[in-house]
Amino acid sequence: MTEPTLTLNGVSIWKGWLNRADQEALVADLRAVASAAPLFSPLTGAGRPMSVRMTSAGRFGWYSDRSGYRYIDRHPSGVAWPPIPKAVLMIWDSLCGGRPPDCCLVNFYDPQARMGLHQDRDEADFAHPVLSISLGDDALFRVGGLARTDPTRSVWLQSGDVAVLGGAARLAFHGIDRLRPNSSTLLGSGGRINLTLRVVT
Ligand code: SIN
Ligand code: MN
Repeated sequence: MTEPTLTLNGVSIWKGWLNRADQEALVADLRAVASAAPLFSPLTGAGRPMSVRMTSAGRFGWYSDRSGYRYIDRHPSGVAWPPIPKAVLMIWDSLCGGRPPDCCLVNFYDPQARMGLHQDRDEADFAHPVLSISLGDDALFRVGGLARTDPTRSVWLQSGDVAVLGGAARLAFHGIDRLRPNSSTLLGSGGRINLTLRVVT
């Protein structure tokens, strides 16, 4: 397997894994996903809307409201989640292999959006990695350890970069501190898309 460009507290990062044409094709696929299953703002446990808007593709979609974080098998409107685009599955195959993901969470960040430090722990088996794909504006990605108070390191993720949280870093705390607005021309009206692929069950 190709060696990552860098690792950050055990998280592997491949800079520029996707070229511009691949990124554009992916954005077209994701526009189709979002037109079938529109973006929505999940509520935090405290009942506040998250600054990131989301939708999903695959058998399961990630969801959150006052009753907590979980996976649901339909979009909140009742429509089925669209299938995960083939090009996305191919990226998983190249870097993770093994069982294919059954959720592709699509996060849309507008220039003010951020994501607080958290662990991805709503899945059944942490032996499967989490793969994350960045498209659009640069984002400051912070990675810590297995405890919230562990020291963190940060890197700017750019359009086309891919990160994998696996092995000892599968449950690493991570988050997005901020975007660098207008740093990419990929998305006509700016912002950032992040895809996270996970095996849920
Ligand atoms: C996430 O942790 O769900 C998103 C990470 C990112 O946006 O890069
Ligand atoms: Mn996460």
